[in-house]
Amino acid sequence: MRVFFTGGSGKAGKHVIPYLLEQGHQIVNIDLNPLDYPGVDNLIADITDSGQMFGAMTSYANFSELEPGTGVPGFDAVVHFAAVPRILINPDNETYRINVMGTYNVIEAAIKLGIRKIIFASSETTYGICFADGERKPDYIPLDEEHPVIPEDSYAMSKVANEVTARSFQRRSGADIYGLRINNVIESHEYEQDFPAYIANPDMRRRNFFAYIDARDLGQIVDKCLQTNGLGYQIFNASNDDHSVALTTQEIIDRYYQDVPQNRSMGTHETFYSNEKARNLLGFKQQHYWRKYLSEK
Ligand SMILES: NC(=O)c1ccc[n+]([C@@H]2O[C@H](COP(=O)([O-])OP(=O)(O)OC[C@H]3O[C@@H](n4cnc5c(N)ncnc54)[C@H](O)[C@@H]3O)[C@@H](O)[C@H]2O)c1
Repeated sequence: MRVFFTGGSGKAGKHVIPYLLEQGHQIVNIDLNPLDYPGVDNLIADITDSGQMFGAMTSYANFSELEPGTGVPGFDAVVHFAAVPRILINPDNETYRINVMGTYNVIEAAIKLGIRKIIFASSETTYGICFADGERKPDYIPLDEEHPVIPEDSYAMSKVANEVTARSFQRRSGADIYGLRINNVIESHEYEQDFPAYIANPDMRRRNFFAYIDARDLGQIVDKCLQTNGLGYQIFNASNDDHSVALTTQEIIDRYYQDVPQNRSMGTHETFYSNEKARNLLGFKQQHYWRKYLSEK
């Protein structure tokens, strides 16, 4: 597929794009900074400027696309990752403005230009626990996509607003628009760098429901979304099958979630951030989990 990928130069995109290239997709990366990776075309553009999004989405990707003489090829899909990725980078209102207007502009241009597949990055923070003031707990475990999303911070609010925007564009157009509530993205070097501390102190992972998503496995989820058609508007939790700490599920429950209702029995190391929907509807199968790269302490 010829894919319009926003924010591909960032932490997640720089791993997801190589995965998509390996699957044979053509990628045009739309970002404020280019991604220097073989085979990727870059266009410098700002998602908060609607004109730039319409312009970029109707642009040639490279000089070789001029050769056939058949005009500008269309995009088959949009993957929208560009954002301010958390609180405490910009003032809160700016985080909200960039993320909400940027996402509106990207989805509006895609839908009005007839693109029928849009995948966008939402976030685990929508559930209101990650950036809460003090400790909040899930209403129930394992936490699935039906759990209420009532966050307190501007970043997560922007992601909830983006889901509403996406849902409305989907209703009018009938296109497939899938939102990924991505958990904490882990790059391969971060297993050795960060996981020993998580193992020593599981408290560090409480705000992420003890979960994580390997950046390459996130690439697989995005590719599965590109391949899976006809689901309309969908939200998927994006996480690996296991926790990011060396405790069993029961040990974590005993320590952190004793007062939280448990909806079903769970596996020995099963994540509290349920990825069941991505596994069942998309066929996601994790390939990269921390125990593969780090021996348990
Ligand atoms: N990293 C995580 O753990 C995580 C978790 C949940 C959700 N997400 C979401 O996944 C997406 C990617 O996250 P990331 O960690 O790679 O973030 P990142 O900040 O590393 O990358 C974001 C990219 O977007 C670009 N960008 C920002 N503003 C832009 C603008 N106005 N116009 C064009 N490009 C712009 C940046 O230049 C950057 O390359 C984001 O939407 C983020 O909210 C990330």
